[in-house]
Amino acid sequence: MIMSTDHVALQPASNAIPADIRCAQDYELAARRYMAEASYAYVAGGSGHDETAADNRAAFAQWSIVPRLLRPVSDGHTRISLGAVTLAHPVLLAPVAFQRLAHDAAEIATARAAAATDTCMVCSTLATRTLEDIARNAGQHKWFQLYLQPSRDATRALLAKAEQAGFGAIVVTLDASIQVASLSALRAGFRMPADCVAVNLALLAQPMPPLAPDASPIFQGTMAAAPNWQDLEWLLTQTHLPVWVKGVLHPDDAVALQAAGIDGVIVSNHGGRTLDSVPSSLSMLAAIRSAVGPNYPVLLDGGIRRGADIFKALALGADAVLVGRLQMYALSVAGALGVAHMLKLLREELEICMAMAGCATVDDIDAACLQPHYSRL
Ligand SMILES: Cc1cc2nc3c(=O)[nH]c(=O)nc-3n(C[C@H](O)[C@H](O)[C@H](O)COP(=O)(O)O)c2cc1C
Repeated sequence: MIMSTDHVALQPASNAIPADIRCAQDYELAARRYMAEASYAYVAGGSGHDETAADNRAAFAQWSIVPRLLRPVSDGHTRISLGAVTLAHPVLLAPVAFQRLAHDAAEIATARAAAATDTCMVCSTLATRTLEDIARNAGQHKWFQLYLQPSRDATRALLAKAEQAGFGAIVVTLDASIQVASLSALRAGFRMPADCVAVNLALLAQPMPPLAPDASPIFQGTMAAAPNWQDLEWLLTQTHLPVWVKGVLHPDDAVALQAAGIDGVIVSNHGGRTLDSVPSSLSMLAAIRSAVGPNYPVLLDGGIRRGADIFKALALGADAVLVGRLQMYALSVAGALGVAHMLKLLREELEICMAMAGCATVDDIDAACLQPHYSRL
């Protein structure tokens, strides 16, 4: 019998940065000491056989950064403009659900780390702390990730809650209508602990109507309640905040979203957690950038672990990137301090790449800064 997992940390989160953390990616390994095995498997795993999750990482290794000599970069900085906002650096915290799995302070600790490092936090619909508390602790820039709810009233209520809490943009995730199981999490015996609750949905949850005996639980069940184009168009009439769409992999979808009035897209496959076997997000980025033109906001997530990954994503057309799992790993190791430290390391790693590639600003980073890795030539 599979027992419900105990998500009590193997080792309590540290009050200091452990000595073996020397780069942002070190949090991935260190988190194994701080998270229960099944919780770690849930966070680290992709869906199905983890093919896409692995491809997300492998895609970065297919590119090399070409260094340049003697270029002046002493006025350099990492600032970027995204729509109407200016961010100190091009790294956002991706929406990550159920952060209580990693640390008792959960999304509050992440929000504090975001505030301390001038980072834009994207708060998940499935947060374990209230939107009001998270927003109060996050910095100037905070966005809300929205899962459209089966009823428009429930979506409207969630949207109103996010707007009142002070979130400055809505990120609608459209690639996760079906939650595909992670085999690695199932094999590790993962079950969501009873105290990891999506508190902001608690009053909105509605029972699904019963299915006819010959109905498909996918087509007539889950997908009957999944959002469609009309729902997205309706959403645009319900808010004055900028609306982004997360989970875009096809250039034609990006073009259609741009035409529909969406403010920007996030190239993403949910960290390989939706359909296994879809392409890595990095491999679709250049085609999407070319389809929407140079000025439309495009972000990317999936597989970012190092400053060099960020540099490569920017070179291939992203305006900024988001980090998902790294924030859970850092959270489990040292709470808010860990997440802030991880973000600081990522930014320093990016600055080193920029300086060595002769790029004083993010705008200087382009495809000419990269070449295919020698193994691909
Ligand atoms: C544990 C976990 C929970 C996630 N929860 C959400 C979520 O609630 N909403 C969402 O849009 N994406 C969610 N994601 C996907 C991330 O936002 C992001 O797309 C992905 O983690 C990026 O890949 P990376 O983890 O390799 O950085 C989640 C990812 C993980 C690992």
